[in-house]
Amino acid sequence: MLTRIKDIATNLAPRLVEIRRHIHAHPELSGQEYQTAAFVAGVLSSSGLHVEEGVGKTGVIGEIPGNYHDSRVLAIRTDMDALPIQERSGLDYASRTEGVMHACGHDVHTTVGLGTAMILSQIADELSGKIRFIFQPAEEIAQGANWMVNDGVMNHVAAILGVHVFPSIPAGSVGIRYGALTAAADDLEISIFGESGHGARPHEAVDAIWIAAQVVTALQQAISRTQNPLRPVVLSIGKINGGRAPNIIADKVELLGTVRSLHPETRKELPQWIENIVANVCNSYGAKYQVNYRQGVPSVQNDNALTQLLQSSAEEAWSSDNVLVLPEPSLGAEDFSVYLEHAPGAMFRLGVGYKERIINHPLHHPQFEIDESAIITGVITLAYAAFKYWESK
Ligand code: NI
Repeated sequence: MLTRIKDIATNLAPRLVEIRRHIHAHPELSGQEYQTAAFVAGVLSSSGLHVEEGVGKTGVIGEIPGNYHDSRVLAIRTDMDALPIQERSGLDYASRTEGVMHACGHDVHTTVGLGTAMILSQIADELSGKIRFIFQPAEEIAQGANWMVNDGVMNHVAAILGVHVFPSIPAGSVGIRYGALTAAADDLEISIFGESGHGARPHEAVDAIWIAAQVVTALQQAISRTQNPLRPVVLSIGKINGGRAPNIIADKVELLGTVRSLHPETRKELPQWIENIVANVCNSYGAKYQVNYRQGVPSVQNDNALTQLLQSSAEEAWSSDNVLVLPEPSLGAEDFSVYLEHAPGAMFRLGVGYKERIINHPLHHPQFEIDESAIITGVITLAYAAFKYWESK
């Protein structure tokens, strides 16, 4: 079966490159993936899949038709949205939309999802279970997975597989990670209320700027002294707002930040931990405060058996030199984790780096580019893993 999958993939390769370039040239922002969704639906239905559009707002699902004894479903998820970045790659298929770019490789993910669907629909008779392709919108704003789940895409799903491009490893290779792949990403908003006064008479005021500076410092120091260093927490204040004039003591400062963590138990404790530190600093100097901690997406925790399935599929398809077991997770976030609240799953990293370049631009860079030979690696890995999943049931 592997040889057959590889043969079909090789024949499809030029078409997949065309598809990827079309999507790349026509990027759409999160929640506005109308043309991309219509294009995806068109490719899926012309490949014989049963298609539903308008799922999770601008998402699409496709299923390979067939009569199965088993009501369970294997889901394969990819994402379709682009970023508000002006592309500077200079490629002839660069974005034709001002200020919007596929700089996170979701054009590649969508193409890999379509290629996998095309292959598996050609071997549908050999599949012993149902496969659902989920093309989700709005991953970059961490909303799309929720929209899709709310529309029922996880009904009957027994397992889910996903892929994300990874420029740090060369095209032709695949990165596998057991356990945590990405971090939980939560939003933090702290308001500090002091009392205004003359800049020359600080003792008659409560200086919210000085206290905010203490809060930022205390939080960073407390991570290193009170959090388990083997359970990483990253807290970054990215925006600070306050004050009116150089000689007026500020009565209010707002701090906005992001909080990343890998361990679910650590994450649970973070809101109270942060509030205690803010309270201690503010109480010491007579300021009032408010802390809003909003949970974003959880950490992607790859399931062991499904990670093993991805690893063995890739190792059979390629040499084991091309399959890297990644020693470290990323503190980036990925809303694939939302699906994992409903079924076990695993996501792998698809190498897209050019071998001959010393530096490949990172994700979200205006000159981000991929080695397109990676598409076929992704498609074969996923199609074969899906086949093997049902073969083992
Ligand atoms: Ni992404």
